[in-house]
Amino acid sequence: MVHIPVLLKETIEALEPKPGQNFIDGTFGWGGHSQAILELTAPDGMVLGIEWDRESLAALPESIKDNKRLIIESGSYTEIAAIAQKRNFNRINGILLDLGMSSWHVDESGKGFSFSKDEPLDMRYSKDSQLTAAKIVNEYTAAELERIFRDYGQEDRAKKIAAAIVKARVQKRIDSTRTLSIIIERVAGGSSVRNRATKVFQALRIAVNREFENISQGIDRGFQIMENGGRMAVITFHSLEDGIVKRKFQELARSGRAKLIFKKPVECGKDEAVSNPRARSAKLRAIEKISQQN
Ligand SMILES: C[S@@+](CC[C@H](N)C(=O)[O-])C[C@H]1O[C@@H](n2cnc3c(N)ncnc32)[C@H](O)[C@@H]1O
Repeated sequence: MVHIPVLLKETIEALEPKPGQNFIDGTFGWGGHSQAILELTAPDGMVLGIEWDRESLAALPESIKDNKRLIIESGSYTEIAAIAQKRNFNRINGILLDLGMSSWHVDESGKGFSFSKDEPLDMRYSKDSQLTAAKIVNEYTAAELERIFRDYGQEDRAKKIAAAIVKARVQKRIDSTRTLSIIIERVAGGSSVRNRATKVFQALRIAVNREFENISQGIDRGFQIMENGGRMAVITFHSLEDGIVKRKFQELARSGRAKLIFKKPVECGKDEAVSNPRARSAKLRAIEKISQQN
């Protein structure tokens, strides 16, 4: 499996890793960005990689983990300060959050992230959590489902899809991606099926993992533990996610605690859009920390 890191060159330009500096990669995934940071921080800079999904970590090839300057810890980046403290990781010069799921989640996790496979409807990054996609689909009210599909999926047939789910689950519990896809197909029909299924699956993943709630916490706690002059870069794949990062960064800039590195979010160029379809919706924002207090 190959996970191609998104906006790699631009992220490195934003973080400016230098020899001897320490970075936290809050969403380690398959370590693509971390690898590039490690090369630039040699000979003695360290990377602390945090990854919420223990199964993803267990599937990592040795070649990715095998670096004395890399510490990998399982946990959520919302606990970034506690994890850094636990691992005695100090003098933090930069933090990266590359949000969402990795190619491994879609291709190999077996956790139901893709509508084009037939898998159990799980979608949890961390199995410590009790909330699965199946629980949402089978137990939430029509109004709650509609809100999730509308707010997190920006799906205009949210109400119809929610109603179809509620009707179908009376007959039989919806436990697989295939069953859910068939219900979406009935409502959507025609050429829009893939598009609507993508949005519904994305919305469920965001709800299951509380992805939007996590971002603000991660930024606040990460900002606190960074050195002055340290840089934070966040890559998002969803316009609402980008809105959260934009607001947070603007607040920090307005209060004089940080400066924005880019005026507008950085997006991928034509070549990357062709070679890595995941990059098409990616947006990168970055700040430099000026001071802790305003
Ligand atoms: C887009 S991938 C990161 C890819 C990585 N930058 C690379 O180049 O290989 C996002 C990763 O973050 C993980 N993740 C999602 N939410 C997280 C959280 N709250 N804390 C830590 N990791 C999280 C996912 O499991 C996934 O592996």
